Amino acid sequence: MIAERIENDFINFRFPEEEGFRYGFNLYALINEGSVLLIDSGFRTQAKAVKNYLEKQGLKLTHVLLTHFHPDHVNGLLALDANLTVMGSPEYRKTLAKEIQQTVSPVTFSETFNFGNYELSFTKAPGHSACSILIDINGKYLHVGDNLMSRYDGKALVPWVEFDQLGNHISSLELLNKMNRDRLILGHGPELKGKEIIEQAIDDRLCYLKKILKTNGKCSWEEAISGSSCTYTGREFFEQLKPVSTD
Ligand SMILES: [Fe+2]
Repeated sequence: MIAERIENDFINFRFPEEEGFRYGFNLYALINEGSVLLIDSGFRTQAKAVKNYLEKQGLKLTHVLLTHFHPDHVNGLLALDANLTVMGSPEYRKTLAKEIQQTVSPVTFSETFNFGNYELSFTKAPGHSACSILIDINGKYLHVGDNLMSRYDGKALVPWVEFDQLGNHISSLELLNKMNRDRLILGHGPELKGKEIIEQAIDDRLCYLKKILKTNGKCSWEEAISGSSCTYTGREFFEQLKPVSTD
C-alpha cells in the first residue's frame, strides 16, 4: 500500500493489482483533527491496512463515504467498527449484496456535507451501478467512482456495466463531460489531470458504450474498441455484456 498526502489532511491510499485482479484500488481519507472520513473501503484487506495505518498515526476512522455499493468498495466495512457513520446514495439497497453491521445514512443531493476543511457535494451518476454518485471535494477534486476505470498503471479499462444500464452510463458520462472539471479521482487507477485528458478519457468510454448500444450488443470486441484513442483492457467486461433475453 502506498499512502500519499495530496494535501496535509487528504491522503490517497493506493493498492496495486493483486493476483487474479484486473485493477488496483484507491481509498481516500479526509482528516478532521483526529477523525477520518474514508471514501470507499475496498475489500477487507484494504480496509484493515488503512485502519492500521491511521491508528499508527493516532487517527480514528469515524466516517466511510461510498461512491457506490459494489463489493470491491463496500466489503471493507465488514472489517471496520459497527458504529461508523456510513454514507452513500439513497439508492444503495439496489446494489448492496452483503449484510453490513453499520447503518447507512443516505446523502442528499441538494445539501453539502462538511468535514473539517472539506465541503462535499454529491451528484447522481447511475449506470455502472444504480447507486453511483460523483463526489465533489471543495470544488477542486471530483471523485467519479467507477464511471471511469483504469488499471493501477493507468491503462484504460472498458466500462463495467450491465446491458440495461448502458443508456444511464452514457448519460452520466455526458453529464460528467459537461461538468468540465480538471482533476478527477477514481476508484481504480491514477488521478486524471487536465481538461483535455479528461475529455478524451470520457469520449473514449462514450465511443465504446454507444457502439454497443447502437448494435444492440452484436458488435465484436474489435468493433467496440475501434475509434477510441486509448488501448483498452478488460475484454471480459465486454464478453459479459449481453442483452437481457426477453424469451
Ligand atoms: Fe469498483
